[in-house]
Parts: sequence; structure tokens; C-alpha cells
Amino acid sequence: MIMPVSADKVPPPSDDKRWKIVSATMRRHGYSPNALIETLHTVQESFGFLEDEALRFVAQSLSLPLSKVYGVATFYHFFTLKPQGEHTCVVCTGTACYIKGAKSLLDELHQKLGVKAGETTPDNKLSILTARCLGSCGLAPAVVIDGNVVGNVKTGQLLHHIEAQVNAK
Ligand code: FES
Repeated sequence: MIMPVSADKVPPPSDDKRWKIVSATMRRHGYSPNALIETLHTVQESFGFLEDEALRFVAQSLSLPLSKVYGVATFYHFFTLKPQGEHTCVVCTGTACYIKGAKSLLDELHQKLGVKAGETTPDNKLSILTARCLGSCGLAPAVVIDGNVVGNVKTGQLLHHIEAQVNAK
């Protein structure tokens, strides 16, 4: 007899702790396909945008066809798919990070690069996004550069962190 695979057993794409936040939303709804929109909201709030691997993980976990998940993600304007920049910098603007200076980080990016949250530099090198909580509040203010969490970011350091990440590729 073939036992059904529990949705909880769908492995997350990586050991990034933000997947636990996403899984918690799905678990709270019993992995019901009806949890799709709320789960996508959680992904966006945790990651800043909906990347392909996140859509695949959600589709598998909620036993939905990937096409359906893409359909919903592209239909609603409040969801952001992977931005066009070659690199991404997601600034957390959740309470802990906001109190510790997230706004000055965004202001700095705006002043130095001329781009605001949701925008991409004219050379398409870097997209700036925001998230509501990266699950790393102890590291506030935290940003994620190309998927790597950087904590305790001070004003004046963010561009160095971005350059280091971009040059490491
Ligand atoms: S509020 Fe920024 S990581 Fe939680």
C-alpha cells in the first residue's frame, strides 16, 4: 500500500529559516489549497518577492499545480515576482529592523543609487525590495543580498556589503 506523503515532508529549498515561517502558515491551514494566497503573502513578507523556488515549494506543499500558483502570483498586483535586477537587496522594514534604522538604509540607497524600494538601477544590476520580517530580528537591522542574510547593518556599510556580494559572483 502506498502511503501518502505528508505535506510537512516536502523539504524546503534550503535551510534558510524563512522557510519555517512559510511552512508555519501552511501548517496552520492544514496544507489546504485554500491557503495559497495567504501563503504567498507570507513568502513575500519574508523574502520580499516570489522567487521560482518559492512558488515550486508552495505548489508541492499545498498539492497544487505549479501553473495555478504562477497564475495567482501573476494575477494579483500586490505580489512581486523576481525583479529584473541581476542582484537583489531586500531591506527588512519589520518593527525590529525599523527601530534599528531600516529607513536610513533605504534612504542611503536612494541617495547613493537613485533607486527606491521596488525599483531597479538603470543598468539592471540591482533591485531594491523590502520585506516585513526575515525571521532574523536579533540581527536587526537586517538585509538579504542575493539570498544571503546580513545583520546589524550600519548606515554607510550597506553599499560595501552589496559590492562585496556582487563582486563575489
Ligand atoms: S523585523 Fe527584521 S528580521 Fe524581523
